[in-house]
Amino acid sequence: MPTTAILGLQWGDEGKGKLVDSVSARQDFCVRFQGGGNAGHTVYPEGKKIVLHHLPTGVLHKDCVNVMAQGMVMDPFKLLEEIAEVEARGLKLDGRLFISDRIAITTPLHLTLDVSREAGDVANQIGTTKRGIGPTYADRYDRVGLRMADLLDEVSLREALQRTQNVRACQTTDDAPNVESMLKPLLEVGEKLRKYVADTSLMLAEAMAENKNILFEGAQGAMLDVVQGTYPYVTSSYTTAAGIPAGVGLALSVEKVIGVTKAYCTRVGEGPFPTELTDETGNKLREAGGEFGATTGRPRRCGWIDLFALRYVCRISGVTHIAITKLDVLSGFNELKVGVGYEGHDAPGLPADIRKFIALKPKYETLPGWKDDISKATNAADLPDNARAYLRYVEDFVGVPIGIISVGPEREASFETDGAPKG
Ligand code: IMP
Repeated sequence: MPTTAILGLQWGDEGKGKLVDSVSARQDFCVRFQGGGNAGHTVYPEGKKIVLHHLPTGVLHKDCVNVMAQGMVMDPFKLLEEIAEVEARGLKLDGRLFISDRIAITTPLHLTLDVSREAGDVANQIGTTKRGIGPTYADRYDRVGLRMADLLDEVSLREALQRTQNVRACQTTDDAPNVESMLKPLLEVGEKLRKYVADTSLMLAEAMAENKNILFEGAQGAMLDVVQGTYPYVTSSYTTAAGIPAGVGLALSVEKVIGVTKAYCTRVGEGPFPTELTDETGNKLREAGGEFGATTGRPRRCGWIDLFALRYVCRISGVTHIAITKLDVLSGFNELKVGVGYEGHDAPGLPADIRKFIALKPKYETLPGWKDDISKATNAADLPDNARAYLRYVEDFVGVPIGIISVGPEREASFETDGAPKG
């Protein structure tokens, strides 16, 4: 299977990091194509926790080549810290980390803009990760941003910084980072990163021609997609499989698309979440699932799985297999609810009008729970009947087979299945 994607199907934090970690062990290439330091992919290699923000998770496997493709945004200072952390584990990145020369650069000015907007008018707050993601993408599309190639040449860098400042000055105060304060540190960081810079589109075209195994690692989730998600309460990139071709600069079509969903649902930041539970059950899910943000530490909002939304995002992302994570967190509930639609909502899709989205009231199906600890299960047959029935319900409703089941945070705590067990 030469091309595979692993993508989030909810509002991020579905547990993609762990799956990418195990799948990338068998890959020649691991590629990030969107997002930036807003991602927090938590992995436990040899039982020691590491959270990757910019780096593809394949960096944890010494034979895997890692690409940060052009659709990403990158904070070069934070990236250097991450590289140092990974290399301190004895995993050298020279010759197996490549950064697109077209990647968009987050500067200190972008961080300031993100933070000050989030501190401003409540009506405009998104609850961002404050990593400068929105302003960096905005500058790219306003054609005043910086790219990796600019960090490698002083004249180009000065021109690019001036471009940004000319357009953004009206939104900042006098003490905001400016051309002179940013020029030298950015040149220095550019010099440190120079050895990783490449034309990654060409590199991937060659890898595909040689039939290499390539994994595209998604960040965030489909419901945070800048167009298909709960706009404006979204991130600023294309998080579905549709984002891969433009994000890597190749008109490719991915063969196997693994969509990752939790067995329940979480969200951080503002925005609608129809199946959210603000009661004791929501608290129980948060505690049992350890639902606190990997990037910001914020408590996550928790609720039941929304199968209607899941069916929608599987369609737009062309999902061929579902991976369901944190099934163990549902152990101990007498009954489980699954969202199957919304009161008075007859359309097959989700509303584009955010006011209509916010007004959605979920309709539920109730399924029996199970008491057993399932965290040691190694195949579907080890699961209690009610857990298998739960999975079968998900699979039948969404119309996509479940290919992977995860029952704990460790690398070993997930297994493949030919679709959720029948019977
Ligand atoms: P931004 O991507 O930092 O601009 O944040 C926009 C929205 O996306 C906010 O609601 C964030 O909480 C959310 N978000 C961004 N990255 C992640 C992630 O990796 N996991 C979960 N939510 C995220």
